[in-house]
Amino acid sequence: MGRVRATGGKGTVHPLVYLDYQATTPVDPRVVDAMLPWLSEHFGNPHSVDHRFGWIAHEAVEEARRQVASLIHADPRAVIFTSGATESNNLAIKGAMMAMEGARDHLITVASEHKCVLESARWTAARLGARLTILPVDTKGLIDLDQLAEAITERTALVSIMAVNNEIGVIQPLAEIGEICRQRGVWFHCDAAQGFGKIPLDIDEMKIDLMSISGHKIYGPKGIGALYVRRARPRVRLEPQMSGGGQEQGLRSGTLAPHQCVGLGRAAEIAAGEMDAEAKRTQRLFDRFWGRLSAEVEGIRLNGDRERRWPGNVNVTIPGVPVEHLIAALPDLAFSTGSACSSGSTGPSHVLLALGLDDEAAHASLRIGFGRFTGEAELDYAAERIVETVKRLRAERISASSPSG
Ligand SMILES: Cc1ncc(COP(=O)(O)O)c(C=O)c1O
Repeated sequence: MGRVRATGGKGTVHPLVYLDYQATTPVDPRVVDAMLPWLSEHFGNPHSVDHRFGWIAHEAVEEARRQVASLIHADPRAVIFTSGATESNNLAIKGAMMAMEGARDHLITVASEHKCVLESARWTAARLGARLTILPVDTKGLIDLDQLAEAITERTALVSIMAVNNEIGVIQPLAEIGEICRQRGVWFHCDAAQGFGKIPLDIDEMKIDLMSISGHKIYGPKGIGALYVRRARPRVRLEPQMSGGGQEQGLRSGTLAPHQCVGLGRAAEIAAGEMDAEAKRTQRLFDRFWGRLSAEVEGIRLNGDRERRWPGNVNVTIPGVPVEHLIAALPDLAFSTGSACSSGSTGPSHVLLALGLDDEAAHASLRIGFGRFTGEAELDYAAERIVETVKRLRAERISASSPSG
């Protein structure tokens, strides 16, 4: 079972199964081991050029940069370290639109993107006067490529479309999007926070010009991410969002944290070695878990395309069962109502609404995420608990609403 224990009512202690891998992943112990020396004996500032403390830290950061770059087949010099995908998305979108200085002022993104992409895009409209097109998705969460091609004009600067959706796991057709953008001379930014280290990504094959990366979605630490910025053909120009010492080629001032960079680098290196096996194992877990739920929970629906998805995500609607009731009844399972990053807001998920779900269906939806450290037995236990709890909650509802009940 999970490593944490939850306390239920009357002091009952349940084993707690962690099922929120899209919110964050546990840090792999191999990553922790790699990071520790950079928090203790090797404490140098990687930007100190006058002594060995600095040189050693600098070399560790550069090795991490190579590890990150290698996973997306990029030139390490094109990888900029940031604090996470939120910062990378802000830098890519605001930075690109600002650098255009109005020469091209149109930005295209998609309704099911992460809030930090949508909010950055809206910022460019409100503060820079950019024209914004937000493309819809179909009922399975996929964009329409013809619609994308039609939306591009001679004023379009940037298209921002994510790799793997954080709420429904859907994978967008990246190579096709990249082809359209390249043909039309438009930069393609991809928020790959949920895709990097999980699905094969190649910046040249997919013609991606900017790519956002996050450490804590791939068993690395929180507070570190990266932005890939294409250096040539086309050369992408960005306006930095922070003023300071001009680190990271002037694009992201601030002292780099070597332990964080090393953590992201090691996480990327492990992912590179284990990606195929991990994807196959995750698919087996998906088949087993979804097979059980779909057979035993009447009316359950999987949100997002069945095939084009990361299998470590199972987002479902269970008609007639509000998700708050399910969460309250299952203190031994740590799953979520949707995106942790927008959990401060109480409204229904904008992603589920974009798929065409109504408010009631969106409120009866839950997101289960599993991965590297999820065992089969844990997932069987979770399925069993969900099945029995849904049956009980539905039976209670029926008896409460019947005249004799
Ligand atoms: C698709 C996507 N983009 C961006 C982010 C933000 O990443 P970070 O937590 O590294 O800022 C997340 C995190 O939930 C995400 O899932």
